[in-house]
Order: sequence, then structure tokens, then C-alpha cells
Amino acid sequence: MSTFRSFARRALTFGLLAGLANCAPGLVAPRSTGLGGIAPFPIGVSVYGPTLKNNPRYREAILRDFNSVTAEVEMKMGALKPVSATEYNWEDADYLVKFAKDNRMRVHGHTLIWHVVQPRWLETLPNDSATWEAVMRDHIQTTIRHFKGDVHAWDVVNEAYETSGELSNTMWRKHLGPGYVARAFRYARAADPKAKLFYNDFDLEGGPNKLNAVLVRLDELKAQGVPIDGVGLQMHSSLTTHTPSVIDALEKLAARGYLIHISEMDVAVNLYNLPTTRVLTPQLLADQKQKYKEIVAAYLKIPRLQQYGITMWGVHDGQTWLRENRPEWPLLLDDDFKYKPAYEGFVEALRGK
Ligand code: XIL
Repeated sequence: MSTFRSFARRALTFGLLAGLANCAPGLVAPRSTGLGGIAPFPIGVSVYGPTLKNNPRYREAILRDFNSVTAEVEMKMGALKPVSATEYNWEDADYLVKFAKDNRMRVHGHTLIWHVVQPRWLETLPNDSATWEAVMRDHIQTTIRHFKGDVHAWDVVNEAYETSGELSNTMWRKHLGPGYVARAFRYARAADPKAKLFYNDFDLEGGPNKLNAVLVRLDELKAQGVPIDGVGLQMHSSLTTHTPSVIDALEKLAARGYLIHISEMDVAVNLYNLPTTRVLTPQLLADQKQKYKEIVAAYLKIPRLQQYGITMWGVHDGQTWLRENRPEWPLLLDDDFKYKPAYEGFVEALRGK
């Protein structure tokens, strides 16, 4: 064999191995570019379908740095079936999936059972548990089957627990009883035995109370054989987020063997909407850079096989969900799609600096 051919073969093997190392089990190796090319795990971003269609700069920014996408709205129940229990509108979610496929990006499925972004018709369903059970099962299984082969991981249940570890009194809990979380995961597993199934929640990284209470619940579910493969830490954090609490959450989840997804990351600088933080200053930008750096560095320390990835909740400050409430600049790119110090902090952490 010529030197060139053996070199090419070795390069190919190495490339494939590097590619495999860069994706969670069962997934196609995603494209590697920008942040996604530096990290040893996928770097994702939440995407708004209409903006993806209409704004080329938004699209370019996604392609420049990310190799995983989460639909910010399009895969939620209220978007998938706005009109009735049986009429699905796949168009918007399919558009995102095609974009991801065309560009070799992973799609993370978000989210099957939640109590927000719900269709109005749910409120008119009869008050009997059999009807609600059928709606839950059908929603989970029809959605998973529709995307089978393209979406290999799902947030099956989102934000089900209170800080105390009690189930939140959502419509699902009210109509289906406390066993609904376990059944949701079992329905999901039956629909796609290979898909990775996540429980996703906020504030697990915000201190020991909610973390420990929810871990007790997850341990109980695990003991009953409920198929939960991973946990999503939303990581809607801020300058006041206590990094040791983030480390604690990562370590406790890692010790339990879960895949861990930082699933909705942003670092708010104006959490309390105070006169001192309502205007973006170089100091706030520097503090934000530091917080990104610390959290990404902490994530790098968990075992490689449990690093499902880090997903940013939004492409740029101009379209953060947090602006629904107050002035805010929580992301890696500014209003004009330019890199912020936060981006440098992310890169420095990935590079071990
Ligand atoms: C938010 C989106 O950003 C908004 O555009 C949408 O209207 C409501 O949902 N936790 C979650 C996400 O799991 O799905 C939420 O996303 C933010 C909080």
C-alpha cells in the first residue's frame, strides 16, 4: 500500500474515531465547526423556526458555532397540535429537522410532557383519567415515532417537581395522578427503544434543596426500573449563580450514571432589574465571561461518556426569551451577532485555559 493511501486510511480512521468521540451513543457524528469543533461533546442552541427561515444572519450564526439544535417552540405540544388532539402540524418542526440533517447537526427533542405552551383544547377535555392517559400516551408515542431516525433523544418530562420534591400540581398531575412521570417514560421507551430519554428541569444547579429533593424522586423512579437515561440541567443561570452548587449537581448526577445535558444555558446579568445592572457595562460583560468559563470548566470535568452536550438557550441577545420580562444580555453573541467576552470565556474553558 502506498504511503499516501496508508496515511489516508489512518487519517480516515482517526477522523471517524474523533467523530464518534464527539457524539453521544447511537448518534451520527455531527459537523465540527466553531465551538462545536473545539468541544469534545456537541454544542447546541435553541432555534426559533420563523427566524431560521427569514434571517440569513441568524442562520449563519447557528452554522458557524453549533452542531446540535433544540426547537425553542416548534416541538412543544401547543405548537405540534394547536387545534385538536389528533391533528398534528409537523411542518415547522420538520423544517428544523431538515435544516439540521442537511448540515449534519444533532436534534435534541424538546419537550413531550410539560405544562406550559399547551394547546387550549386541553382545557376542554373531560375530567376522566382514561381520556387524559390516552392523550398523554398518544402525544408521546406519535411524536417520537414521527421523528424516529432523526431525533435520538427527548426531554420526556419537563419541570415536574417543586423545590420540595413534590410533584407540581400541573394538569398532568391532577388528571393522571403521581404515577404519570413513570408512565410517560415507559411510553417513550416503547415508542423508540434506542432513544435517550431525559428528565429536564430548572434550578437543580441552584443549590442543594431542589437538587437533593429531585434526586430522591429520580432514585425512586430508577429503583422501579423507569427508563431515564439522562438529566437536563437547564442552567438558566446568572452572575449570582453559585459555581460550587453547579459542580455539586454535576457530580451527583455523574455519580448516578446519567447522561448530563446542560440543556438551556444562559447567564443573566440583570436578574433583579436594578438600576446598577439595567445598563450593560464592561464590568458586567467581564463577570459574565467569568461565569460562563466556570460553568463550562465544571462540565468538562464530568466523565466524557456522560457529556451529552451543552445547549445555549438562544442564538443571540437580540432574541433571548428573558427579554419578555426585562432588559437582558445573557447569551454568547450580542444583538448584532458579534461575539461577546462570554464567548471568549466559553472557548477558554473548552481549551483548558
Ligand atoms: C421558552 C421559550 O424560550 C419561549 O420562546 C416560549 O414561549 C416558552 O418557553 N424552560 C424550558 C423552555 O424548558 O422550553 C422554555 O422556553 C424556557 C424555560
